[in-house]
Amino acid sequence: MVLLKSSFFTRIETELDDLKQVSRFRSLFTGSGIILSGNDYLNLSHHPSLRKKAIELAKTADLASTGSRLLGGNHPLHEELESLVSSWKKSESALLFNSGYDANMGVIQTLIRKEDIVFSDKLNHACIIDGIRGTGAVTERFNHQDFTDLERRLKKHEFSKAEKFIIVESVYSMDGDITDFPSLVQLCEKYNAHLIVDEAHGTGVIGQTGAGVLERDGLMNYPLATIHTCGKALGTFGAFVSCQKSVRDYLVNKCRNFIFTTALPPWQAGLIAEAIRLVQPMTAERDYLMKLSADFRKRVTEKTKWSTGNSKTMIVPVIIGEDSEAVKIASFCRDAGFDVRAVRPPTVPEGTSRLRLSFHAGIQVTDMEKLAELLTKMVNG
Ligand SMILES: Cc1ncc(COP(=O)(O)O)c(C=O)c1O
Repeated sequence: MVLLKSSFFTRIETELDDLKQVSRFRSLFTGSGIILSGNDYLNLSHHPSLRKKAIELAKTADLASTGSRLLGGNHPLHEELESLVSSWKKSESALLFNSGYDANMGVIQTLIRKEDIVFSDKLNHACIIDGIRGTGAVTERFNHQDFTDLERRLKKHEFSKAEKFIIVESVYSMDGDITDFPSLVQLCEKYNAHLIVDEAHGTGVIGQTGAGVLERDGLMNYPLATIHTCGKALGTFGAFVSCQKSVRDYLVNKCRNFIFTTALPPWQAGLIAEAIRLVQPMTAERDYLMKLSADFRKRVTEKTKWSTGNSKTMIVPVIIGEDSEAVKIASFCRDAGFDVRAVRPPTVPEGTSRLRLSFHAGIQVTDMEKLAELLTKMVNG
């Protein structure tokens, strides 16, 4: 028994040492300075109106849901939030989940069976990958945003009677690039495929009212389901799925991630609703954020040897390549007062270790300029 225990610890310690050898050992620390490593794109997490609402809700609403929504955990604040989401998204219905991770896993594993075929972008988030794995369905992973590759794979299964599902993110979390939905929808139509979209990083920041990239593209209700997280631009926590009523009913009845868990606290649902009301008119903040990031990308690409990939949003990767080099540069940035993190494989593909910078509406133009200047100095020695 003792021997088994010690071999377990030898195993995990060896694995941790291996990570250290290749600069991939991670540890937790709290950031300080100008935050460029979060997802609070509109600075909502400390917005005065949201804080005021949190205090009001703490005084009046239940602090815990105390159970699954199908048992005693369903509260009017959950339902009010879902109807607010439906009117924002102009969808038939919406369903609240405890996190984006849960929502993606739950939607994918509930709607897709092992007889189906899934087409998944190679850079999809871990929770999409894990969700698909759990379905046991045949999976075609197409090159990132490469619709020629996607079509070649769709063609392979053209005459199959299986249901087909294409799963993408609207804004990619490590690259900040945007999916070309008008082209993707044409492929969905041509090959009779359902579309599932994770709008985690589009929610709040893209679209006339911040409802996401699909709102901007006039395709808000084309997908079978869209997943929106609340822990990013909405400055709160949790997630919701926007879909048709029959899909919602199906999830309520069949989705294990929805059924077998304690629902979000009612006060939290009230807070998310307030965040949604706040983001809708924030057009000036959205415009500022996009301009700030575009200016930064221009400076980095003109003055350094590093690429910012195909970023078109507030998420800007500065692609360094080597793991140890990315770690070193991130650490220099932190020493200069910018909370910047290095992102390494397996989160991003081999050889593309990067600084993953995420701008937010509270960052001043002068700070953006200082950071670009710092990177320029680093690259030029
Ligand atoms: C694209 C994407 N989807 C889903 C998630 C998970 O969302 P949550 O943090 O709410 O679990 C994340 C979070 O990092 C993400 O980047």
